[in-house]
Amino acid sequence: MTTWITICDTCKRDGWEDGDMARTDGENLATLIEAAATGLSDVRTRRVSCLMGCSGSCNVAVQAAGKLSYTLGRFDPTPEAASGIVAYAMAHAGSETGQVPYRTWPEAIKGHFVTRHPPLPDE
Ligand code: FES
Repeated sequence: MTTWITICDTCKRDGWEDGDMARTDGENLATLIEAAATGLSDVRTRRVSCLMGCSGSCNVAVQAAGKLSYTLGRFDPTPEAASGIVAYAMAHAGSETGQVPYRTWPEAIKGHFVTRHPPLPDE
């Protein structure tokens, strides 16, 4: 089953205004995540504008139908963060419930969980 990484492409970290402001931090993280997920069959990505976690930018959601879903935040737009998010999403895709054992979490996602959402009931 496909696990989706939903990336907020309007997130701006503290100090974003001090740069050239050509792209948001969320756009930069989205580009890195999309590159890291290229060619994967069980993980797909999409961009949205705002996940309502703006003060804890950058934010992503990891979701799949019928599984536990998560929002994660406070990421810098770095290749390390992107590859950690994608590796976690691959583990999520391989999990029947969406729960991924802590011992297998990529180092880059530790300390970044914000919320967990149980799957919706069937009816
Ligand atoms: S701008 Fe990214 S969560 Fe609001």
